[in-house]
Amino acid sequence: MQLLTQRNALLDPIEVASRDEIAALQLARLKSTLRLAYDKIAHYRQAFEALAVHPDDLHSLDDLRKFPFTCKDDLRANYPFGMFAVPREQVVRIHASSGTTGKPTVVGYTKADIEMWAEVMARSIRGAGGRPGDIVHVAYGYGLFTGGLGAHYGAERLGCTVVPMSGGQTARQVQLINDFRPDIIMVTPSYMLAIGDEFVREGLDPRQSSLRIGLHGAEPWTAAMRHEIEQRFDMNALDIYGLSEIIGPGVACECIESKDGLHLWEDHFYPEIVDPATGEPVADGEPGELVLTSLTKEAMPVIRYRTRDLTRLLPGTARTMRRMEKVSGRTDDMLIIRGVNVFPTQIEELILKERMLSPHYVLEVYRREHLDTLDVVVEARPEPEPEAHDAHARQACAARLAHAVKAYVGVSVRVRVAEVGEIERSVGKAKRIIDMRPKE
Ligand code: DLL
Repeated sequence: MQLLTQRNALLDPIEVASRDEIAALQLARLKSTLRLAYDKIAHYRQAFEALAVHPDDLHSLDDLRKFPFTCKDDLRANYPFGMFAVPREQVVRIHASSGTTGKPTVVGYTKADIEMWAEVMARSIRGAGGRPGDIVHVAYGYGLFTGGLGAHYGAERLGCTVVPMSGGQTARQVQLINDFRPDIIMVTPSYMLAIGDEFVREGLDPRQSSLRIGLHGAEPWTAAMRHEIEQRFDMNALDIYGLSEIIGPGVACECIESKDGLHLWEDHFYPEIVDPATGEPVADGEPGELVLTSLTKEAMPVIRYRTRDLTRLLPGTARTMRRMEKVSGRTDDMLIIRGVNVFPTQIEELILKERMLSPHYVLEVYRREHLDTLDVVVEARPEPEPEAHDAHARQACAARLAHAVKAYVGVSVRVRVAEVGEIERSVGKAKRIIDMRPKE
């Protein structure tokens, strides 16, 4: 009890407010956000009118479902600044996500938006166990990507000492971690592993590093990957979620005391889960696509944004705000192989059950004789597993993994165990799928 009181004294009161208080705040903020979008952004006015809805039609949180969705194409169609609700002069920062094709998605922030972002990021880092005075090594990329600057402002806001390393220069990362002795690292889970490999390559033990906490996100990763990172570095690895369209990192974060999914900062972002096929809302606890509405953003309010991220909503634990389960994948990363839906995370879980296999993998999709086929290419571990270099042992391991994928995911795959270092390392988000199918 005393511990709980001590902890609560550190928190924003809203993080542990009653559900009624949270809902009342959300409703008031939702009303003003709908009004702002309708009054100031031509796209929303037209979209609302097309569905014959008006901001005054929102009387309860449930009424939000009457309003139209917003998707990435809407942002692209209004490129670059057409979704801003304030004169451009009031926009103090631009970020953009590159996307694989076409124009980038541009987002803008007023001074108050940057403040709010720093606030939710500080809350996230504190929830993950960070404290004022900690040294935070930021290895998310700085630039148009929101990862680096988002982490930076949040850590500063919490009162930490920030090392703005950005992504890349892996040997340098290791050197600075050794010399500056940070408590916290903020980096994608896949690049965390590459940093771990570099420690080993240099003959250093990552378990002896000063790191206590890793805040990992920007890409899907599994509980098995968490275990891998925690074992390698002897630290806590926590999940942090966000997307540029909504703010950047800091929409939701795991709390160190429960590590049971990500608490959504519901006073700033209103979550819904919808069936990705029909767009119909599903009940809390049911899986589906996360849809987010910003509640306090000024420069670019976003109404019912289709994130394409698959998860479910769960009741609060360490906070009264609801949790989202670890994202299992993106609707657009779902492969359909001979009628079976496959997500990279499903394969990742199974790979990490094999001692001989490392967490570096890619999925290659081909079309052979009109049929889609999936190859799992995964590196052997560099550690001195005595049998790892034995061709028979590798074959047996590949066969076991293929069998597990067939049994648990339901699809036949070919598995190739690659040499250490064969799979390209990314310094940010890992590319898990290489699609070799001819473009239709
Ligand atoms: O990735 C923001 C971010 C930076 C989040 C650093 C966390 C840490 P975008 O580049 O716009 O923004 O990409 C957003 O990345 O829709 C998800 O598909 C994916 N994503 C982000 N965090 C997670 C996570 C940043 N924790 C897209 N788990 C999102 C799974 C994640 N996927």
